[in-house]
Amino acid sequence: MTQRVLTGITTTGTLHLGNYVGAVRPAVAASREAGVESFFFMADYHALIKCDEPDRIERSRLQIAATWLAAGLDPERVVFYRQSDIPEIPELTWLLTCVTSKGQMNRAHAYKASVDANLAAGEDADAGVTMGLYSYPILMAADILIFNAHRVPVGKDQVQHIEMARDVAQRFNHLFGQGREFFVLPEAQVDAEMELLPGLDGRKMSKSYDNVIPLFEGGAKGLKEAIARIVTDSKLPGEPKDPDGSHLVQIFDAFATPAQREAFRAELRAGLAWGEAKQRLLAQIEAEIGPMRERYDALMARPEQIELILQRGAERARAIAAPLLAQLREAVGLRRFQALKGDTAPVAKAKSELPVFKQYREADGLFYFKLNSAEGQLLLQSQGLPQGKEAGQWVARLKLEGAAALVDAPVQRAEGVDEATLTQALQALQAAQSA
Ligand code: TRP
Repeated sequence: MTQRVLTGITTTGTLHLGNYVGAVRPAVAASREAGVESFFFMADYHALIKCDEPDRIERSRLQIAATWLAAGLDPERVVFYRQSDIPEIPELTWLLTCVTSKGQMNRAHAYKASVDANLAAGEDADAGVTMGLYSYPILMAADILIFNAHRVPVGKDQVQHIEMARDVAQRFNHLFGQGREFFVLPEAQVDAEMELLPGLDGRKMSKSYDNVIPLFEGGAKGLKEAIARIVTDSKLPGEPKDPDGSHLVQIFDAFATPAQREAFRAELRAGLAWGEAKQRLLAQIEAEIGPMRERYDALMARPEQIELILQRGAERARAIAAPLLAQLREAVGLRRFQALKGDTAPVAKAKSELPVFKQYREADGLFYFKLNSAEGQLLLQSQGLPQGKEAGQWVARLKLEGAAALVDAPVQRAEGVDEATLTQALQALQAAQSA
């Protein structure tokens, strides 16, 4: 069976090199594997939790969409969409919210971090905590479960959220599945590559530490300036450097082949100046990112084109989400009222209500058959046949094939009977036969 791989990126701000190395690049590579069906999306509902500036939200989701496309995402292969274009996601979020225990949400890292910070500052524990932040993991569970994703590539900091998604999926299956598994239990996939790329100061690269190297923002010049600000030790040119203690080398590694990594280390040990090392790093990154930046600029100049791609993606996504959500609504009891249901499923007709074939022999010595409606009205009359067996075979065929067998059967529609009536009678028999 094909593996469904799903990942989302929260659309606040723009992406930096750490996002590219940790999320975008491995996801695009994975989407090219055979036997994998990929779902990538802009988590713009999640963005609203952290950001109340509409213009920033608008700009960020466009930039991030353009980034994924520039990085090689093929929207034909990948189902690529905005979370907010899939109304089934917030609807499922509510169904899941109703079976999620509050105690479990109290333990979510993001929420706990806010509480701890508040308490440390002598504030009320929940100061500034919105219900959006509190329920963040449930929305994320809905993102994953609505598409029954098997694998979710994420950073380490998100693993707890995937565990929560598994828990709530299990609870829902148990409560409403009646032996059926509505949801696949997703697995977090934390690749070595997803290990967090260090930032300028050696800590994890993150907006909140103000230590990021931008991916496309600021162009080649922005990249160069950021690299110039990478902190190194104060060893002079010519002095041997310890490559393994340097986060500059770690960043280099993320863009280099094993042979290039070795060569770079050897040069540093031999005394390469940090200034030179930064130029090598710039060239190494630029070789990969430069062509993407050109595509990015071209895409950003034509937002309508991206809009079309995303709308098409949403259509494909909803074709999967909507039928599942319909089943879930049914399962929890949000059903149509029977009395209002104009289109009740046809109830199988009892035997006595079915039309009947009759076979008989006339005084002329020939064998005949006819079809009567359940009420006894003559519908179909055969010609006389020399063999009884032959009559029996025609009856069997008409029962099995229905009106299709009329074409060459030796029969005539009875007077006053229209074609539709006869066809329906034969269909009823056929249905009873196959039931
Ligand atoms: N919470 C993720 C992050 O901040 C983004 C995200 C939202 C996500 N929904 C998801 C990731 C579903 C994977 C699957 O990185």
